Amino acid sequence: MRFHVNIDHIATLRNARGTPYPDPVEGARLCERAGAAGITAHLREDRRHIRDDDVERLRQSVTTLLNLEMAATDEMLEIAARVRPDVITLVPERREERTTEGGLDVLRARRQIEKIAGMCSQRGIKLSLFIEADAEQIRESHALGATQIELHTGVYCLADAGARGPELEKIVSGAAYAQGLGLEVAAGHGLTRDNVTAIACIAAIRELNIGHAVISDAVFMGIEPAVQAFHATIRAARAEIGARRGP
Ligand code: PXP
Repeated sequence: MRFHVNIDHIATLRNARGTPYPDPVEGARLCERAGAAGITAHLREDRRHIRDDDVERLRQSVTTLLNLEMAATDEMLEIAARVRPDVITLVPERREERTTEGGLDVLRARRQIEKIAGMCSQRGIKLSLFIEADAEQIRESHALGATQIELHTGVYCLADAGARGPELEKIVSGAAYAQGLGLEVAAGHGLTRDNVTAIACIAAIRELNIGHAVISDAVFMGIEPAVQAFHATIRAARAEIGARRGP
């Protein structure tokens, strides 16, 4: 299981006061030192947290893997083609939303995704699509040439006790379906140390992208202990799967 830390909210804190600190690039370096397998950053259209020069500096500094989340627009296509992250994750984006509120509608965005998929294959960039655990969206992601899908866990994370089981079941079956098509499966959004275990126990999911809760924990614990604590929780969940399968 790859654990990628999304460092957007280090930039949120920096931008709140217009200071040069805290620097998300330095934060990324510390996350990598603490064991993160990759760094994720979302360059939003309104640049509310990560900015263009952060992405350029992250590209210079990140030694693990840089996953750039972005909307499927021509502006972002041009930036990504220049910066060459290791992975591009296409996400839906609405200016008025507080955070990414739903999965990408792959069927509606097909033409833009095809354009970006073409650029990715020319430049050797892995393409991941952030979608709901819906069979049609998964099939279309595969048909469009994505290597990976990232399943949106936000609804599961916010669900009350009664709805949580069915939401988890959707993610379990979506992950298995995608894996059966040959897609790599990641998951993310809204994950905390309290709710990550059930998601990390899904064998078909091989990557988690976690941001807000890691940076929130870091406020009290320090960033390296926060990354290590998340990592320990995820590793314990994976060990549980191994133990269930037996030797
Ligand atoms: N994955 C994707 C595709 C996202 O857009 C986000 C939010 O930027 C995350 C993961 C991380 O979500 P959170 O900050 O809630 O952990």
